[in-house]
Order: sequence, then C-alpha cells, then structure tokens
Amino acid sequence: MGKYVIAGNWKMNKTPAEATALINEIKPLVADAKVDVIVGVPFIDLQAALDATKGTKIGVAAQNCHWEKSGAFTGEIAAEMLKEMGVGYVILGHSERRTYFGDTNESVQKRVRGALDAGLTVILCVGEYLEQREQGITGEIVATQVKVALGGVSAEELKRVIIAYEPVWAIGTGKTATAEQANEVCALIRDVVKGLYNEAAAKELTIQYGGSMNAKNAEELLAQSDVDGGLIGGAALKAPDFSTIVHAAKV
Ligand code: 13P
Repeated sequence: MGKYVIAGNWKMNKTPAEATALINEIKPLVADAKVDVIVGVPFIDLQAALDATKGTKIGVAAQNCHWEKSGAFTGEIAAEMLKEMGVGYVILGHSERRTYFGDTNESVQKRVRGALDAGLTVILCVGEYLEQREQGITGEIVATQVKVALGGVSAEELKRVIIAYEPVWAIGTGKTATAEQANEVCALIRDVVKGLYNEAAAKELTIQYGGSMNAKNAEELLAQSDVDGGLIGGAALKAPDFSTIVHAAKV
C-alpha cells in the first residue's frame, strides 16, 4: 500500500448488479491512478466488487466486521470471513456505526483487533460532533478515539491501519471542513500517533479526510500537508466525480 489512498464509502447504496456496473465505469477512469484506490461496498456486494476489480489495482473494503472468528452473533460478519473471500480492507468506527448502531470506542477497538488478527487493513474513522467542536473539545475527542482504537495495536500492525478524520457535521451535509480545519485535526492525529509509537510510524501513517469531499473541493483538501487521502461518501457513487478526486490526490 502506498501512502496516498482515496477510498469510496458507498454506505448502504448499490445492489450487486449496480456495484458491478459502477466499478466497470470507474475502472478505466482510474487505471492510471498514482494513488491507491479502494471501494467500500455493502457486504452483499463484496463478491461482485472482487470479481469486477480482478486484475486491477482497486482494493475492496467492507464497511464493518465483528471481532470474533465465529459464533452466536446474528447478523454479524467476521473479519476472517472477509479475509477468506479476498477482501483486503475494512472500514471501522464510522460515525454512522457509532451513532445509529451503538459502536463505542471500546467496541471499535475490538473490531480493529479482530480485523488486524485476520490480516485485513483497517480504515479507522474518527471525528467529532458539531456540539463537541463548538465546545472546543475536538482535539480531546479525536485523540481519545484514536488512542482507544489503537490500544494493543503494535507498530508493525499499525502499517495496516489508515485513519480517516471525518467530522460528523461535515458528513453528507455538503458542509466541508475548511482545508485548514481538516489539516489541523489530521496533524493532531499524527501527533497522537507519534506519542503512541514514534516519529517514523506517524510519518508513514496514511490519514484521510472525509466529509462532503467532492470533485470541486478535493484538490485543496488533498493539498494539505497532513491529508494523505480521502474517504468519500456521496461523490464515490458517481464514477466521473470519484475519478476526479482520485486524480486530484497528490503523490
Ligand atoms: P460524504 O462524502 O457523503 O459526506 O460522506 C463522507 C463519509 O462518511 C465517508 O465515510
């Protein structure tokens, strides 16, 4: 994996047939991409995405996983299952999982553990709510999310972790963080990682920004010194827009 990574988070969108069609549309547009490209699709679309991306450099991500290898967890999917089918990545701790499905810093930590043990690369999402930003506690909130999620993760394992900073107030709202706001928190995350590990680990870490990133604002956001990529929601569902963002990424 390179340092710069543009990942689409399709959320609960696209059927398997639609996923195949969208990936087929994206493929030629990103064939010469200088950065790593990932599509994060619903569980039911994973096989279609793996088939459609075969022979390309596009990676496939799931949007969650459970920490146990198997067991009585109705409706859950084990990291091991994803790994066996050929999935390389998993998005964990997304604010929608935290807000609507009860994920906590502690459960995210367990999911990260399970995913790393299974051999997956994790895209760990962190970010503050608007009230928290207004209270001036963004730094504390994000630092805690990072520290708890990375509890027990070794420096070697950290090479398989991408952190995505997604301010909740910017997700799906059209309200993008300014490039300065995005960079400020991404830099803070890098500093936290430096404190937990060392300078080299912090430097190597891929930190993405996510939250209403689109074809128009991507270039400015991605030009920031501590922003190494993007986690894209809505704009990842349109092949030309997603491709524009991929090509806006610095190398
Ligand atoms: P939007 O790009 O739709 O704001 O979503 C961002 C996001 O949540 C990606 O994980």
